[in-house]
Amino acid sequence: MLVLGIESSCDETGVALVDAGGSEVPRLLSHALYSQIQMHQAYGGVVPELASRDHIRRVLPLTRQVMEEAGQTLAQVDVVAYTRGPGLAGALLVGAGVACALAAALGKPVMGVHHLEGHLLSPFLSVDPPVFPFVALLVSGGHTQLMRVDRVGSYELLGETIDDAAGEAFDKSAKLMGLPYPGGPHLADLARQGDGAAFKLPRPLLHSGNLDFSFAGLKTAVLTQAKKLGSELESRKADLAAATQAAIVEVLVKKSLAAMAQTGLKRLVVAGGVGANAQLRSQLNAACQQRGIRVHYPELHLCTDNGAMIALAAGMRLQAGLETLQRGYTFDVKPRWNLAELSA
Ligand code: KG4
Ligand code: ZN
Repeated sequence: MLVLGIESSCDETGVALVDAGGSEVPRLLSHALYSQIQMHQAYGGVVPELASRDHIRRVLPLTRQVMEEAGQTLAQVDVVAYTRGPGLAGALLVGAGVACALAAALGKPVMGVHHLEGHLLSPFLSVDPPVFPFVALLVSGGHTQLMRVDRVGSYELLGETIDDAAGEAFDKSAKLMGLPYPGGPHLADLARQGDGAAFKLPRPLLHSGNLDFSFAGLKTAVLTQAKKLGSELESRKADLAAATQAAIVEVLVKKSLAAMAQTGLKRLVVAGGVGANAQLRSQLNAACQQRGIRVHYPELHLCTDNGAMIALAAGMRLQAGLETLQRGYTFDVKPRWNLAELSA
């Protein structure tokens, strides 16, 4: 069964084709991605209206490319899946509209997918896929959550951020240091040359006794430190970047370990853009190895938004018998959508 997946929730247009035949994990046949990052960089962040318009320009050429690379035709597609939410309303509407129009033209069913379910299941496309049950650390630009995942479609929220997401903490701190959007990867690069212990930055909620996070105070502390440095900031920027990264990573690692201890599970899955962070990966790997915990990540190029995870999640939900295929082509999008609602 061929599932076409379309992702357009933010500033990346992603399209992919998976084969979800049988009971094995869906196989990725091809995927294509267009990142709008350069366009938004001039504004220091995503401009929603520009994002929507660019998705319109990219989505069909990317779809053609994906079909060609897979050696398939659109007529062979069995299901068209798209990101229904959460994300930017206008951007989501482009993917939903195109997916429904395409499915209607082909007479095939259509399926809306939860963006975070895509992220969460994306490690199943890696060379070292996880097995259920596991704890998932979802760390993206908009979300920071720890979930208990018993099977496809069963997501129990263990803890989440009460303010900024981890990706947001990276991005906002990077912006204060004058780094380009999105700041996360730039800050991580700069941090390689710095000393993480050079500045003492707060680790909010580290000892809160629950699995919630808070990153808003960190950004303020970085701003205060940057102001204090004044003209020295330029020469100390790498140290400040390293200290910021160290604070975020320490909180993510400690809370993940606490979630493992609380659930008694021995598998941790890390997903979302911040999951690409090398420091997070190396510290989690070291801490988990000591405790006999296996950690699974998506392939690096599938950490940030992509169509493969949407096609995959659709395929896995179908295989799990969680979806009845719809041939109705009216649609809505869900800019705000709680992942735990899928378990209901
Ligand atoms: O999952 P994602 O692509 O989009 C959302 O669904 O939000 O995540 C994007 C976030 C951004 O905040 C970006 O700065 C961050 O992931 N990010 C990183 C790295 N690569 C991406 N943060 C830290 N280190 C990285 N290497
Ligand atoms: Zn995402």
